[in-house]
Amino acid sequence: MTAKKRFVNVASRRHISPLVLKFLILLLILFCIVVFSGVFSQFRLQSSSSFTDLGLDELRLDSYRMKIAFLFLVRDNLPLDFLWHNFFKNADPEKFTIYVHSKPGFVFDASTTKSVFFYNRQLKNSVEVGWGKPTMIQAEKLLFKAALDDPDNHIFVLLSDSCVPLYNFSYIYTYLMSSPRSFVDSFIDATEERYNPEMSPDIPEEKWRKGSQWITLVRRHAEVVAYDHVVFPVFNKHCKRRPLLDLSKGNESLIEQQQHNCIPDEHYVPTSLAMQGFEDELARRTLTYSLWNQSTETMDTQAWHPVTFSYATASQKNIQDIKDIDHVYFKSENRTEWCSGPCYLFARKFTRGASMRLLTNGVVGPYDPNTLFLDRI
Ligand SMILES: *[C@@H]1O[C@H](CO)[C@@H](O)[C@H](O)[C@H]1NC(C)=O
Ligand SMILES: *[C@@H]1O[C@H](CO)[C@@H](O)[C@H](O)[C@H]1NC(C)=O
Ligand SMILES: *[C@@H]1O[C@H](CO)[C@@H](O)[C@H](O)[C@H]1NC(C)=O
Ligand SMILES: *[C@@H]1O[C@H](CO)[C@@H](O)[C@H](O)[C@H]1NC(C)=O
Repeated sequence: MTAKKRFVNVASRRHISPLVLKFLILLLILFCIVVFSGVFSQFRLQSSSSFTDLGLDELRLDSYRMKIAFLFLVRDNLPLDFLWHNFFKNADPEKFTIYVHSKPGFVFDASTTKSVFFYNRQLKNSVEVGWGKPTMIQAEKLLFKAALDDPDNHIFVLLSDSCVPLYNFSYIYTYLMSSPRSFVDSFIDATEERYNPEMSPDIPEEKWRKGSQWITLVRRHAEVVAYDHVVFPVFNKHCKRRPLLDLSKGNESLIEQQQHNCIPDEHYVPTSLAMQGFEDELARRTLTYSLWNQSTETMDTQAWHPVTFSYATASQKNIQDIKDIDHVYFKSENRTEWCSGPCYLFARKFTRGASMRLLTNGVVGPYDPNTLFLDRI
């Protein structure tokens, strides 16, 4: 028995030693893996710090590709395309996208613009827009919706065909990217009577807001505008602009004069955002400067419209005066909005002559007449 036991022991001892060896080899392999991965992670740490040293941190930020979507809401063509062309030419192409809503069927190609930036950028599903009509909002919603399809778009700027930039792209990019807030002119005006009681209870009167149509939204607010299916139908039904009295139309025009007067595009976005409880996420001012004609008294006549800048009035001094504005006062609310830096990045309404003056004054970047596409016409 003991001999057998010993034999077994010897046999098992003989058997165990290769097992131990295998175990040791396994340990060695494991050790090597640990050491190698340690060295590797150190290498990675070192290399990432040298990336930082090389300023490639910026590259990593770029991989998020935070883009600004420029949304042009236009009647047909873009008369100021040459100015915007120079603006975009001086920009990093990874940092912006362009969308245009024009009348259905209008195509931006070599026959309608000399700027390649606008080729194939118009929405295919555009609608016929009546100025001051709910279709204007519909067009806005379509622009936001199209731009939201690109996940890289973080900021959405709505612009008209007479809007101009007051700074170069990099300045505007930095300004917008450093604000977590949307820029939405939004105020309560107790003196106007555009709120139609028939909108209640879908739109409560205390959420009714007024403000400039020209807005800049962060993504989550753009989603409110694009995907809202509650406020828009109410606007469509109860917020209509009263047409001007047209005696040639006889009674029809007189009847129209009794209709409630509401200007949808001055109310839709600020009211929608107030209803969603987003008001404290807004800088409650517009980034687009308009000069209102002080000599007209009543707002609801055609005379109340922004002054158009011409070549003569788009002087360096006048533009600098706009850039120097650092606060906005809202009379109806006795509220002053202070801007950290300039209040306005864009301005309207500008003629082609006025825009040419901005261009030659280098407002949107260095001006080189030899590379201006218009010179090649
Ligand atoms: C853009 O404009 C700012 C201020 O107006 C200026 O400091 C900067 O050098 C300009 N950048 C480029 C790339 O032109
Ligand atoms: C137009 O108004 C006149 C007088 O107010 C009235 O007699 C006439 O029937 C109206 N016409 C229409 C088409 O409503
Ligand atoms: C302001 O409006 C008045 C009256 O409508 C007009 O005569 C004047 O030309 C306008 N001023 C400007 C600068 O557009
Ligand atoms: C407006 O607000 C200021 C304080 O912010 C106050 O001193 C002033 O009396 C107010 N004016 C009116 C007209 O309410």
